[in-house]
Amino acid sequence: MSQAPYSVQGDVAVITMSNPPVNGLGLELRRGIVEGLNQALADPAIQAIVLTGAGKAFSGGADIREFNTPKTFAEPNLGTVIDMIERSPKPVVAAVHSVAMGGGLELALGCHFRVASPGAQIALPEVKLGLLPGAGGTQRLPRVIPFEMALNMIVSGQAVMSEKFKGTRLFQEIIDGDLLTGAVAFARKVVAEKLGLPRVRDLRVDYPNAQAYLQFARNTVAAVARNFPAPLKCVEAVAASVSMPFDAGMKVEAKCFHDLIDTPESKALRHSFFGERAASKIPDVPDDTPTRPIRSAAVIGAGTMGGGIAMNFANAGIPVKVLEVKQEALDRGLGVIRKNYENSAKRGRIKPEDVDKRMALITPTLSYSDIGDADIVVEAVFEDMPVKEAVFKQLDEVMKPGAILASNTSTLDVDKIASFTRRPQDVIGTHFFSPANVMRLLEIVRGAKTGKDVLATTLQLSKKIKKLGVVSGVCDGFIGNRMINQYSRQAGFMLEEGATPQQVDRAIEKLGFAMGPFRMADLAGNDVGWFIRKRHYIEHPDMISPKFGDKICELGRFGQKTGAGYYKYEAGKRDAIPDPVVEDMLVKYRAELGITPRKISDDEIVHRLMFALVNEGAKILEEGIALRASDIDMIYLTGYGFPLHVGGPMLYADIYGLYNVVNRMNGFAKLGYGDSAFWTPAPLLVKLAAEGKGFNG
Ligand code: 3HC
Ligand code: NAI
Repeated sequence: MSQAPYSVQGDVAVITMSNPPVNGLGLELRRGIVEGLNQALADPAIQAIVLTGAGKAFSGGADIREFNTPKTFAEPNLGTVIDMIERSPKPVVAAVHSVAMGGGLELALGCHFRVASPGAQIALPEVKLGLLPGAGGTQRLPRVIPFEMALNMIVSGQAVMSEKFKGTRLFQEIIDGDLLTGAVAFARKVVAEKLGLPRVRDLRVDYPNAQAYLQFARNTVAAVARNFPAPLKCVEAVAASVSMPFDAGMKVEAKCFHDLIDTPESKALRHSFFGERAASKIPDVPDDTPTRPIRSAAVIGAGTMGGGIAMNFANAGIPVKVLEVKQEALDRGLGVIRKNYENSAKRGRIKPEDVDKRMALITPTLSYSDIGDADIVVEAVFEDMPVKEAVFKQLDEVMKPGAILASNTSTLDVDKIASFTRRPQDVIGTHFFSPANVMRLLEIVRGAKTGKDVLATTLQLSKKIKKLGVVSGVCDGFIGNRMINQYSRQAGFMLEEGATPQQVDRAIEKLGFAMGPFRMADLAGNDVGWFIRKRHYIEHPDMISPKFGDKICELGRFGQKTGAGYYKYEAGKRDAIPDPVVEDMLVKYRAELGITPRKISDDEIVHRLMFALVNEGAKILEEGIALRASDIDMIYLTGYGFPLHVGGPMLYADIYGLYNVVNRMNGFAKLGYGDSAFWTPAPLLVKLAAEGKGFNG
C-alpha cells in the first residue's frame, strides 16, 4: 500500500502522508507523494490539492533512518518532490498539524499555501543532528518570516508554535476546528478567489541591516558552538538568502549540507539521537509489557544521593517519603533539599511558590511502618553489603506486595541484594549519578531474577522523572564504573611513567571532556575510589594497579572537600591549582618504582584513556552486560561528561577504525609499563576489526 494514500473530496484531492511514527520523508513516501500529485494533475475534475499527514505529525522531516544509505538522495529526492509541487499548475495547500520539522517544514514551504492547527511545533532542527536544512529551508524560511527569527530558528533548531506565525507569510490561516475540513475549504477559496500559484522562491528577503546582523550572528555562534561546525554553516547558508538570487542560494545551501553530512560531529549527534531512543528497547521486554502504576515512592537514606533521588520524584509530582535512622540526619537531608529548591527558584529555574509545593510532596520519617504502601522504594544507604542486607530484609517485611524494591548501589551485586528478600523478581538496581537531581543518566541494573514488568516500569519511570534510562546487567561497577575503572588505572599508570595530573587532564579536556580524570577524582572525593580499590586488591590480588592514588589518600588528600587532592584548592573555591607537593611526591614515587620518567605525548594520553574505555566496553558487550554499543555511549554522554561531538567511546573507536584501535593497543602493550596484559584486545574487538566492521555496525 502507498505511504501516501490518495483520496478525493469533490474537486479537491487529498494526499495523506502515512509513514509512522512521524511521516519521515523516506523514499517510499516521496514516491507516494509524487504519484498522488500526478494523479491529481491528470484528473480534470480536480482543482486543488491538499497535502496532509496521518497520525501524530504532518512530517518530522527526512527519514533519519535512511541517512548514510543510498535512499537518502535517491530520486525522487526531497528537492525534486518540492520542485514538482512548486511547479504544479494546480494549487497545493499544506495542512500542518502537530509537527512540521526539517524536511517536513521544507515540503510545506514548497507548497503554494499553508494552513495549520494551533499548537503545531514548527522547526528546522537539522542543526541538532549536525546538519542544516538541505531542501531549501535556509532560503525559503527567511522569505516568509522575519529574518532574525528565521536565522534564530535555523541556528538553534528550536521549535516555535504555529500560532506565533500569525500575520507572517508562513501560514495563511490558523484553523481552530477540524484541520482537513478547514484545509479543503481553504483550497476551494483559493480556486474561487483565483489566488493563483504563489511561490515562496519568488519572494525577496526584506531586511535592510542584514550584513551587520549576520556579522553579529557569526561572532556569537562561533563563540558558542566551538566543537560543532553546523551552526556556522547555517549562518553561511542563510546569509545567501539575502545576498543572492534564490537558485544561487540553493547551491550554497547544498554545498554546506554536503560539507556537513560526513563530519564526525554530525555522525555523533545522529548516533546520540538514535542511541537515546534505542536505549529503552529491550529485546525480550516488548513495548506492550504490562507495567505497575507508580503513584508514590519512598527513599531510604537522606544523604548525598537519597536527597537528590527524592527531588526527582517530587519534581515529577510523585509524593515521596524519606526514611533515615536518626532525626538529625533527616533534618540535615531535608534542609539540603530545601536549599537546592531555593537556589533553583533564585536562578529562575522554578517558580518561588514551587519550593513549598515540592517540599510538601516530600515527607520525612524515621519509621518503616510509614512507607509500606509506596509503589517503589529506592535504597540509598551506605555502600556496605551488611547495611544493605539489613535494609532489604526490613523492606521485605514492610513493603506491600508488588512494590518495586530498588537499590542505588554503585558497585555491589544486585543479585545478592535481591537474595536478601523473598521477592527477587521485584528487586532492581537504579543507579543514579551525582548530583542525582541534575544528572540525566539512570543506569538500570537488571538482576538475574528481575521481573520483566519491573524492568518495563522502571524504564517508563525514568522517562517520567526526565532521566535517560540505560539497562546494564550485573557486574562489578555495572557498565559505566567498570569502564571508568580501567580509564582511571591508565591515568594512574601515566603518572608513574612521567606525566603530571595537569598534563593528563589538559590532554583529555582538549578533546572536550568536561573534566580530566584527576580533576574528576578530586571533585568526587578520592576516598570513594580508594574504598573501591581496597576491595579490588582483596578480590583480585594479582591485578597490577597504580598506587599513587592510595598515597594521596593516605595523606588525607581526598580532593576538593579537604582542600587538597591531586591539586590544591583555595578555601571556598573550586579551581584546581597544580601542587608542587604532588610533583615532589611523584618524583620520589617513580624513584621507588625504579622508573625513569619519559615525556608522554598528548596523543598517547588521549588514546590510552579512550582505548581503555573501548577495550573494557568491548568485553561488556561480549558478555551481554550492555545490549548494544550505543547504550555504552549514551551512558558516557549523559553520566560521565563525555563530549557530545565525539559521540561516546564506542563511536570514537568506530570512527578511528577498529583495525587502527587494535594496532594502537598492540603498541601500548609493547611499551612495557603498567599492566601490559590489559592491552590484549577483547575478542569481539579483534573479530570486528578483522571483518572491517564497527561496534555500531
Ligand atoms: N525520521 C524517522 N524517524 C523519526 C524521525 C525522523 N525524522 N523523527 C523521529 N523519529 C522516530 C523516533 O526515532 C522514534 O522512533 P521509535 O518510536 O521507534 O523510537 C519516534 O519517531 C518517536 O520519536 P520521539 O520519541 O522523539 O517522539 P516525540 O513525540 O517526543 O517527538 C519529534 C517527535 C518532535 C518529531 C522528535 O522525534 C524529533 O525532534 N525528531 C527529529 C526531527 C528532525 O530532526 N528532523 C530533521 C530531519 S533532517 C532533515 O529533515 C533534512 C532535510 O533538511 C533535508
Ligand atoms: P551518604 O553517606 O551521603 O548517605 C547515606 C545516608 O544513608 C546517610 O544519610 C545515612 O544516615 C543513611 N543511612 C545509613 N544507614 C541507614 C539505614 N540503615 N537506614 C536508613 N538510612 C541509613 O551516601 P551517598 O553518597 O548518598 O551514597 C548512597 C548510596 O548511593 C551508596 O550505595 C553509594 O554507593 C551510591 N551512590 C553514590 C554516588 C555518589 O556520588 N555519592 C553515586 C551513585 C551511587
